[in-house]
Amino acid sequence: MMRADTTGTLILGIETSCDETAAAVVRDGRTALSNVIASQTDVHKVFGGVVPEIASRHHLATINGIVDAALTEAGVSIKTIDAIAVTKGPGLVGAVLIGLATAKAMAFALNKPLVGVHHIRGHICAALMEHPELDPPFLALVVSGGHTSLVDVRGLSGEPGTMTVLGGTRDDAAGEAYDKVARVLGLGYPGGPKVDALAKGGDPAAIAFKRAMLDDDSLDFSFSGLKTGVLNYINTERQANAPLNEADVAASFQEAVIDVLASKTRKALALTGHKKLALAGGVAANTALRARMKSVAEQTGVRLFIPTPPLCTDNAAMIACAGHYQYVAGLTDSLALDAHATLPL
Ligand code: KG4
Ligand code: ZN
Repeated sequence: MMRADTTGTLILGIETSCDETAAAVVRDGRTALSNVIASQTDVHKVFGGVVPEIASRHHLATINGIVDAALTEAGVSIKTIDAIAVTKGPGLVGAVLIGLATAKAMAFALNKPLVGVHHIRGHICAALMEHPELDPPFLALVVSGGHTSLVDVRGLSGEPGTMTVLGGTRDDAAGEAYDKVARVLGLGYPGGPKVDALAKGGDPAAIAFKRAMLDDDSLDFSFSGLKTGVLNYINTERQANAPLNEADVAASFQEAVIDVLASKTRKALALTGHKKLALAGGVAANTALRARMKSVAEQTGVRLFIPTPPLCTDNAAMIACAGHYQYVAGLTDSLALDAHATLPL
């Protein structure tokens, strides 16, 4: 059913695809009345990464309190919520299931529409929340722990063809490479923000790590060779008892990642002719990437939209935003909605 007037539409968003238990209330798609996130970082860091089974158990213990907190903070009763939007994948399937079961139970008990949201559509929608002037068409660069994709965004309804992946990673995601390099440098988990901070004191030109697929015509990425190159460099230096300048390693690795991201983004802008560019996903919180994309945008005459860091990493406001546009387009789901580890856009 089409709803012409969306004034005052309230969506409860729920996100549990990885290690953040999150709930939010969003009005009219773009105004977050609350955005509550319980991070499990402290639980997983002793293991050096997210342990899926532990993540599911923590979601289960936390989710009801987080949903209550999101409603309380927003000052709205669950009765006044128009629809419940929830991440249906991709993600750790046991983790996704906890959010999904919670959303389904609420939708059933309260007789509210259920809207399943693709996690990456959510990340892309994060850019809309702080920029009321951003509407499709635009190009999105999605860089997270699980994805590195250039997406042609033509609409927000969730219908097939509204978002098209122009290129993606053939192996590791950018965030995954950050996390692995951080681990070898002994920086701990999650690695991205730590490499970001360490790189600030290093020389990005110190070590010439290979930029994979820089010169080919595709819009695809590959980061596993770069990751192996960094690991080999560190091992060689350590075996030779050479003093390792960790800040230089971090800065040079980061420069290689950003060179490839910037170059492929330029190609995609030229190919599509888009005049608007949105950054999305956890790695979009990276200070050096944000600075580089600002200069790409200036040089190409494109407007750049980057969410503030809390909206770049996993959160439920972005899921509620994406869910809002699906809901107003009439794309709701039945209670048979399933959780998916992988899911095409
Ligand atoms: O989007 P996100 O929160 O979760 C996924 O959907 O994957 O992204 C998490 C990823 C992790 O790999 C994390 O290390 C990375 O984003 N990340 C960063 C920064 N903040 C988070 N990478 C580089 N620099 C950062 N400042
Ligand atoms: Zn994510």
